[in-house]
Amino acid sequence: MKIGSITLANPLILAPMAGITHMPFRIMAKEAGCAMVTSEMVSANGLFYGSGETRAMLAMSPVEKPLAVQLFGQHPEIMADAAARVESLGADIIDVNFGCSVKKVVRNGAGVALMKDLSRAEAILKAMRSALRIPLTIKMRSGWDASGNQAIALAGIARDCGVDAVALHPRTAGQGFRGTADWSLIKSVKQQLSLPVIGNGDIRRPTDVLAMMEKTGCDAVMIGRAAIGNPWFFSQALAVIHQRPVPPVDTAIRFEVMRRYADELMSLYGEPKACRMLRSRLGWFSRGLASSAHFRRRATQIRTRRDAMTLISAYEQQLLHA
Ligand SMILES: Cc1cc2nc3c(=O)[nH]c(=O)nc-3n(C[C@H](O)[C@H](O)[C@H](O)COP(=O)(O)O)c2cc1C
Repeated sequence: MKIGSITLANPLILAPMAGITHMPFRIMAKEAGCAMVTSEMVSANGLFYGSGETRAMLAMSPVEKPLAVQLFGQHPEIMADAAARVESLGADIIDVNFGCSVKKVVRNGAGVALMKDLSRAEAILKAMRSALRIPLTIKMRSGWDASGNQAIALAGIARDCGVDAVALHPRTAGQGFRGTADWSLIKSVKQQLSLPVIGNGDIRRPTDVLAMMEKTGCDAVMIGRAAIGNPWFFSQALAVIHQRPVPPVDTAIRFEVMRRYADELMSLYGEPKACRMLRSRLGWFSRGLASSAHFRRRATQIRTRRDAMTLISAYEQQLLHA
C-alpha cells in the first residue's frame, strides 16, 4: 500500500492509542514487523500554546519510520500550525483524529464532533494540506448513527482536500467500544471512493487481518487492542499473510522485549515516572501466561528500575522452569 509518497512494506499498521502508543511501545511493534506505527493523539492546541507535556509526547526515533503522528483539535489555523511543527520534527505522516468520543474532546468540537460539522472538518483538512509537504491521513468512526453516511461524506471531503488515506473504525460515536465493528461500512467506503482505505476494529487474532482484507477490500489493516503487551501479533499476522506457520512467542524473547521496554521508559521519562508507568503496563505482557495474576500484583509495587528488572527475571525463571 502507498500513502502518498510512502510505500508500506506490508499492510499492518499500529493504531493510535492514547496512553499506550508512545515511542517505546511503537518501537516494539516496529521490530515485530508492523509496517507503520501511529502516535497517541496529540493536542494541536497544546502544541500551539507551548505545553511542555504535549511537546514531550512527540519523542520519536528513526527506527520507527514511517511514523504517523495523530493530531486532534478544532481550529483550522491551529491544526495547520501544529501539523507544520510536527512535520519539522521528523514525522512522516500527519493523521487527524475524527474518531475520539471522549466527552472533554467532543465538548470542544474536536474528534468525532467534527463528523457532524463537516464544513469545519473541510476547513481543517484544507488548512493542514496546504501547510504540509508530507502525506496527510484521517481516522474516523461511522459517525453519529449507524448508517455510515457521515463517514462516506467525510471520506469524500478528505479525498477532495488531498488526503492520502482514510482509516475507518466502524463504530458510532455513541458506541464507544461496545458491540461489534461494522466491517461492511469499510467495504462501502472503499467501493464508493477511490482512495486508500485502512480498515480497523475488532482484529483479535492474526487470521482476522486477511479476513478483513478479503471481506472489505481495504488496502491495509490497523491493529489496536490486540497489540497491547503483544507486539508479536505483527510477526504472527505477517506469517498468516505469507502463508507460513504462525511462530509461537519465544519466552526468552518475550522477557528480553519486556526488559528493553522498561529501559526505554526509564530513559524517556526518568526512573520515578517510568516505574509508575510500569506498575500497570508490565502486566500487559503476561496476559495468558501462568501465574500472571501474581506477576501483575507484584508489578504494582515497583519503585525502582532494579525492582522492575528483578521481577521480570524472577518471572522468566519461574516460567522457564515450570
Ligand atoms: C486505550 C485506547 C486508546 C485509544 N486512543 C486513540 C487515539 O488516541 N486516537 C484514535 O484515533 N483512536 C484511539 N483509540 C481507538 C483505536 O485506535 C482503535 O480505533 C480501536 O481500539 C479499535 O481497534 P481495535 O479493535 O483493533 O482495538 C484508542 C483505543 C484504546 C483501546
